[in-house]
Amino acid sequence: MLESILRDLECSARERIAAAKAPQYLEAVRIEVLGRKGTLAQISKELGKLPPEERARIGKLLNSVKQNLETALDSKKGQFDHEALRERLESEWVDLTLPAPGTRPGALHPITRIQTEIEDLFISLGFAVLDGPEVETEYNNFDALNIPPHHPARDMQDTFWLTDGHLLRTHTSPVQVRGMERLGPPLRMIAPGRVFRNEEVDASHEHTFYQLEGMMIDRDVSVAHLIFFMKTLLSAIFHRDVEVRLRPGYFPFVEPGFELDIKCLICGGGGCPVCKQSGWVELLPCGLVHPNVLRMSGIDPEEWNGFAFGLGLTRLAMMRYGIDDIRLLQSGDLRCLTQF
Ligand code: PHE
Repeated sequence: MLESILRDLECSARERIAAAKAPQYLEAVRIEVLGRKGTLAQISKELGKLPPEERARIGKLLNSVKQNLETALDSKKGQFDHEALRERLESEWVDLTLPAPGTRPGALHPITRIQTEIEDLFISLGFAVLDGPEVETEYNNFDALNIPPHHPARDMQDTFWLTDGHLLRTHTSPVQVRGMERLGPPLRMIAPGRVFRNEEVDASHEHTFYQLEGMMIDRDVSVAHLIFFMKTLLSAIFHRDVEVRLRPGYFPFVEPGFELDIKCLICGGGGCPVCKQSGWVELLPCGLVHPNVLRMSGIDPEEWNGFAFGLGLTRLAMMRYGIDDIRLLQSGDLRCLTQF
């Protein structure tokens, strides 16, 4: 009797194991059949009531049923584990050779590009590239450039003053003062950098912009040298002929002083907001260094003279790339910047 019960039990348990759709069904069978209070445990309690040789035979059978079911449960469990692993691998699979989504390659800012191009040009002409602080002394920014206190020329550049008497440099000319004091003549240097003016912001004015100023000090430097270098500079920048005009211009640190204008490349001279409808853009103020400036930096104007120029890098980038609003350059607006 017990024998057929055991055989039926094994048979039906095997069917349930084979049909199990998830691991928890296996667990139910295990508890019900093999558990401490399960069917097999109950049957084994009956063994004691059997005569000895019967007991040995049924006991053996019971053990083999138990082992068979354990093996069946384990192998089915193994199948579930394997399947789960495969599903996990499939869902977590990544192609490491694919480019990451959403990344854009970076690019140099248009001002940086123009700056390095001009630096390369001047380095090839024997100029040093000098750097200086953006927070300057009043002396370096004004006095040493022949702009004494109360001189009306100070009003030409609206200044951001700091509470301790320092200021945000209004031009990169103070780097030239530092260059003259530190290196002395003969001197060929350029000073690219960020400058600040307390200005109303509009399409052609920013409170923060970039300049590149330069100077050459040597014996017998003339306006002809100045014009040669400025022409070399402009043809290297624009890779084409640009129309220029030279006007007298007043800057306290040069004498004579000039304004070099170029025909507006945005509108071709017809008039637009960038050239303030005039057709011309002031691009290159320049002149021969004032003797006072040389003297204040410890250079004897009887022996040495030189030229200096200031280039608006920001304005130049606008001309070169046809950007009609200066505010775009520092806006961080990717719609503009990704075009470069
Ligand atoms: N420092 C002047 C400015 O920022 C530019 C300049 C430089 C003019 C050299 C003449 C000579 O306005």
